[in-house]
Amino acid sequence: MEELKSDALAEVAAAASSAALKEVEVRWLGKKGRLTALLKGLKDLAPDERKLRGKALNLLKKDLVEAIGSKGAELQRAEVEASTEGEWVDVTLPGIEPAAGGLHPLTQVMEDVEEVFRGMGYHVMDYPEAEDEFHNFESLNIPADHPARDIQDTFYLTDGNLLRTHTSSGQVRAMRNLEPPFRAIFIGRVYRFEATDASHEHTFHQIEGLMIDRNVSVAHLRSSMTQLLAGVFGRKVEVRLRPGYFPFVEPGFELDLRCMVCGGKGCPVCKNSGWVEFLGCGLVHPNVIRAGGLDPSEWEGWAFGVGLSRLVMMKYEIDDIRWLMSGDLRFLRQF
Ligand code: DAH
Repeated sequence: MEELKSDALAEVAAAASSAALKEVEVRWLGKKGRLTALLKGLKDLAPDERKLRGKALNLLKKDLVEAIGSKGAELQRAEVEASTEGEWVDVTLPGIEPAAGGLHPLTQVMEDVEEVFRGMGYHVMDYPEAEDEFHNFESLNIPADHPARDIQDTFYLTDGNLLRTHTSSGQVRAMRNLEPPFRAIFIGRVYRFEATDASHEHTFHQIEGLMIDRNVSVAHLRSSMTQLLAGVFGRKVEVRLRPGYFPFVEPGFELDLRCMVCGGKGCPVCKNSGWVEFLGCGLVHPNVIRAGGLDPSEWEGWAFGVGLSRLVMMKYEIDDIRWLMSGDLRFLRQF
């Protein structure tokens, strides 16, 4: 019995891994194990001897189970330690910044502008980029033979529609969709068949504003523009109106901003004039009001159109419009 015990415990002590220990366990205590076989053999012995041997074997079994248990815990601890030794982490090292996407500068400024206008009670509308000639030209007082169609070079689609050349295409849609009086802006992508350079791009973005009400004057237009631009730029702006021709407004204006770079003293940005040409605007032409399904003797309005791309370029001092649509990550990562 002593020999049996020291054999078993020696095997337990010699097990070098959890797997080896498991084998020892099976060898002794498994269904066909040595100790199991001896215990099974008890039934063939005479009652006195069975009692004596039974007691000794059960004691041995108890010792063996205990020895396997504590050896197992010891081996497991060692194994966990060994496996984590090569995998430790220095939590004091600086982290690796995960690559994260961001909003395009056009989107950022667009969202800012939307917020300013929403705060002033404007609807923010969205209209199709693929338009028909009616909404892009006819309804805006630009008939097929009108020389103004030459101002804008148009991408025509094979189905006779076109890619809108300006967001003004939304004016009549807005008049037909909204109950007057109303004010709305539509911001979006516009297209021109254009030779590209630092200040011309075939795809760019505009913001269009339209206000329809009774008894609208140029004074309203001027003060609204000043207020809106102050909201967009976050500071007071000085504006000046010059006569400008757009078929869908009468009178029409070019609005200039006092140069924000030099404050009006004259610099390369304003070409030494102190003013920067900024947007087109005017009182909505009666023909356009009519195309919108409203009676021009009752309803009047003002409209403006401004380049969102231009706004973004001024805000971030971007010197070439082609960066905006380039998809170049070296450019985009700076925002
Ligand atoms: N649609 C014009 C353009 O693309 C800009 C414009 C001028 C819009 C005068 C207006 C406006 O609403 O009143 O150049």
